[in-house]
Amino acid sequence: MIIGSISEDKNIEKRVSITPEIAKKYINLGFNIHLSENYAEHLGFERSLYEDQGVKILNDKKKIIETSDIILQMGLLNDENLSLLKQNQIYIGVLNASSNKEKLSLLIKKNVNFFSLDLLPRITRAQSMDILSSQANLAGYKAVVESFSIFEKAIPMMMTAAGTIPAAKVLVVGAGVAGLQAIATAKRMGAIVFATDVRMASKEQVESLGGKFLTVEGSENLETEGGYAKETTDDFKKKQEQLLSETLKKIDIVICTALIPGKKAPLIIKENMIDQMQSGSLIYDLAASQGGNASYTEVDKIIEKNGVKIIGEKNILNKLPSSSSNLYAKNIFNFVSNLYDKENKKININLEDEIIANTIVK
Ligand code: NAI
Repeated sequence: MIIGSISEDKNIEKRVSITPEIAKKYINLGFNIHLSENYAEHLGFERSLYEDQGVKILNDKKKIIETSDIILQMGLLNDENLSLLKQNQIYIGVLNASSNKEKLSLLIKKNVNFFSLDLLPRITRAQSMDILSSQANLAGYKAVVESFSIFEKAIPMMMTAAGTIPAAKVLVVGAGVAGLQAIATAKRMGAIVFATDVRMASKEQVESLGGKFLTVEGSENLETEGGYAKETTDDFKKKQEQLLSETLKKIDIVICTALIPGKKAPLIIKENMIDQMQSGSLIYDLAASQGGNASYTEVDKIIEKNGVKIIGEKNILNKLPSSSSNLYAKNIFNFVSNLYDKENKKININLEDEIIANTIVK
């Protein structure tokens, strides 16, 4: 069986699905690996590193797509490449199935099997495949590093003979995977960290990392049974706005990570709240591509309002392509291993397996 992957447009996506270390693992399982030329040289993974593991490098991308049993990519390839797919091939990636519904349904009719890893159930057995967690972790870390480098003051408190520099104050909005990593990173660098979330379970997690949790008084716990956030009521929004408006006046850096699965990101930091922030402070909005948690956020732009910078990051993982590829490749390998029947050496699309049933695009 052949597993293939071709290089994507590196201006949009710098991450790759197969690293040399993971290529070896597939080969040990009995797969052949076909990759296109210059697949991951931008990450320092040169051709020879792959070839040493037994990978075949081909210069014909079309041939790779046509002859592979399983195609592993980050996202959906362009229409020309997709039109080459045929019956029984398997395509795995992060496919944004709801926004690419039309395109995918035409190919599904041709009996191509698509698996989208953003649809993985959040169960223990799927943790090693959970790309949302692995990538969000890195995103939370990098958002802090990036925002601290743009911020024009020092982060930790410094006592010097010439006077004391106070520690910077950071507010993390949304304490899921990305938010918790942002809190941990900001604390390590000496910031005073505040955080807020609609799920009360996150209070303990924030506090265990040394953050101060801002509770919206009198609010109910807005958590679904699956552990995700629910949309907030108008009453909650009003109370959250009051609480955050006061806090934001003394905050230097805001890291926004709040999301509701399948919905537009909630707008939390409104214009009037930004107007009251100190000049020199900044908002780093990781929710930008889902609409943003802050007013004024624009994808891949830095907007300045009264001296407050609002930074809308679309794909922060392109700034950490090596680490994020290493984790993504491992996640996807664990997913493929679960699809593979090692005894009979064939792929088994067992729809009774929750992981397979949830991720297959219908
Ligand atoms: P996410 O990326 O969907 O959202 C980020 C955070 O924003 C969440 O904590 C959410 O509660 C918060 N949020 C949403 N609306 C908000 C608002 N209006 N104001 C403030 N905060 C708001 O979340 P993520 O990181 O995917 O985690 C969601 C849940 O899934 C958590 O309970 C987490 O522990 C759980 N999880 C479970 C995993 C597993 O068991 N395999 C793996 C990763 C996460």
